[in-house]
Amino acid sequence: MSKAKLIELALKDLQHGRNGTMDLADDVYKVPVEKYYDPERFAAEKEKIFRRLPLLLGASAELPEVGSYKALDAAGVQVLLTRNRNHEIKAFVNMCTHRGARLVDNGSGTAHKFTCPYHAWTFSPDGDLVAIYTADDFGDIDKSCYGLTELPVLERAGLIWGTLNPQSTLDIEQFLSGYDAMLDQFGFADWHHYKTQVLEGPNWKIAYDGYLDYYHLPILHGRSFGTDMHNQANFYSWGPHTHLGRPGTHMEEWEGKAEEDWPTDQLLMGVWTIFPHVSIASFDGGGRSVMISQLFPGETPETSRTNQIFLMEKLPETDEDKQAAEQQFDFLKFVVAEEDYATGLALQKNLPVGARDHILFGRNEAGGQRFHRWVDAIIAADDDALPGLFQEN
Ligand code: FES
Ligand SMILES: [Fe+2]
Repeated sequence: MSKAKLIELALKDLQHGRNGTMDLADDVYKVPVEKYYDPERFAAEKEKIFRRLPLLLGASAELPEVGSYKALDAAGVQVLLTRNRNHEIKAFVNMCTHRGARLVDNGSGTAHKFTCPYHAWTFSPDGDLVAIYTADDFGDIDKSCYGLTELPVLERAGLIWGTLNPQSTLDIEQFLSGYDAMLDQFGFADWHHYKTQVLEGPNWKIAYDGYLDYYHLPILHGRSFGTDMHNQANFYSWGPHTHLGRPGTHMEEWEGKAEEDWPTDQLLMGVWTIFPHVSIASFDGGGRSVMISQLFPGETPETSRTNQIFLMEKLPETDEDKQAAEQQFDFLKFVVAEEDYATGLALQKNLPVGARDHILFGRNEAGGQRFHRWVDAIIAADDDALPGLFQEN
């Protein structure tokens, strides 16, 4: 079903490619500049978006086996992901229930119990408090009331979503709006984590705008990878999540063939963004890979942090492939840091000076338009109205 959908989209891209057209938005769209720097707006984004919506916390390949864990800082909340004895993913606030210490340092590894570095209280991968250090001296407490605080979590399509509010009742599957079935075509559940590299960037929306934008490819990336690229995109959305396809004619070679004869890896090319903070793009240096760019807002409106999580379909075995993979990932760090984020950091200095009261997203920049409309709609929605925004399509 989802492969059929991928073919349907490829045929649309082909039609546009033949006509020399692209999917255009109805009109040019204005974004008031203060939305990128106003501290109140920034606080509302953190509260209403990052603390209410499911976020992509990691990939299944980062926690491949029973006992795997990953600890990370997600928009100011310290999170611990574990894989328990039933091979299920659990998510917790990474906070000891004694006096609140961070239970596990950020990073990943394997552990069958977690002992707090402060006073050695010990927890299981299911979050249970299993031991209190010198318990006789401590005094009586009901251990069952002092397990780790659990967060809603869902593992789908080889990816892990979690909601940072422990009380959230928002259905993560509903939020995904059917997009997980599309992402499942990658088969990430069987892929491998190669490495993660971290980049500091500008305001998270300035950074994210770039991932929804092919318009800049032959210009800003004209001296790196974009030299021969055209700048058109087709935007396909599932709820707030958007895939960027490319008008083209190379699909002609599969036209009329049976579904199984269309190459799934080729159909998955292009960018897959996951609202509100992730983009997935495919590469082939040293073997088939994806870069999952996971963005989090920083401490101030002008800062963000991006984890570039690299997954590979097969880990490189030969020295030649390892070197090619390293070169590919070094190159991607360079391009994003020195071209995209350097541009964004300089851009954001212009916004508050009073020179212009808005910036523009053209009819050819429908991805950015949709993103900003979704951000506005989610901030405006109260908790009761929130689930109603997400419908499967
Ligand atoms: S804060 Fe963790 S054992 Fe005391
Ligand atoms: Fe870019």
